[in-house]
Amino acid sequence: MRGLTRGKRPPVYNERQREKLRAAGQFNAQLMDFVRPHVQPGVTTNQLDRLAAKYTFEHGHTPACLGYKGYPKHICTSINEVVCHGIPSDYVLKDGDIINVDLTTVVDGWHGDSSETFMIGRVSPDALRLVQGTFDALWRGIRAIKPFSSVIEIGYAIAGYAQQQGLGVVEEFQGHGLGRQFHQPPGVPHYPVPQASRDILVPGVCFTIEPMLNLGSKETSPPEKDGWTVRTADRSLSAQFEHTIVMTENGPEVLTLTADGPQEGHRF
Ligand code: MF3
Ligand code: CO
Ligand code: CO
Repeated sequence: MRGLTRGKRPPVYNERQREKLRAAGQFNAQLMDFVRPHVQPGVTTNQLDRLAAKYTFEHGHTPACLGYKGYPKHICTSINEVVCHGIPSDYVLKDGDIINVDLTTVVDGWHGDSSETFMIGRVSPDALRLVQGTFDALWRGIRAIKPFSSVIEIGYAIAGYAQQQGLGVVEEFQGHGLGRQFHQPPGVPHYPVPQASRDILVPGVCFTIEPMLNLGSKETSPPEKDGWTVRTADRSLSAQFEHTIVMTENGPEVLTLTADGPQEGHRF
């Protein structure tokens, strides 16, 4: 999400509410497992949108993106230099592309939100380095926190790792709290923002970590005429991974882990 959701205290969810969040996160992960095998050369992003929508409705759930602030489709598909909020279209995926598929579902009133970047066919060594680095940066962020950590620890971990890897961290879009709302406090910047040290991850806070890393500079262009699509300013490649997490008394619990997707430590 764009901008900052700091200052206001995040909701703290009890065990009953966490069960709702788990169900939403698990369905979102199941949807990702359903979509993943379809992300192939020759497929259009509109086809992925239709597949995700149909699966979601058939299971009695609702895609959160459609109609959100006027967003026109059910999912986001961000290809190559698109940083985020790419709108599905008749674009045909081709060998060498990278594409982030970002899914958000409402299950019984509660949100689950996750995304993965896929490599189509054979990609350049730089593209592979970017995708691996972004995936690893997400997990560095997750492993940087424990109960009562401050949100700034996520930014230190991700930006520190990105710098080592020579990758740019997008600053205009952040992770976010979620629950009955799609976007709520806390804002989760992927670089250290001083005010984020005031947001404490007490057990029961639910949020996303969703770093967007660029091969080139961290700068982005303003959204395009469609009102959504954001590209890197230098048109270098951009990748993103996202999980929904609830902080528990025992540490972060990742709610959107998939059965078939890349697990922590995965080498692409
Ligand atoms: N899923 C995105 C996120 O991680 C938000 C997409 S909003 C939309 O926050 F309207 F573009 F769908
Ligand atoms: Co999100
Ligand atoms: Co998302």
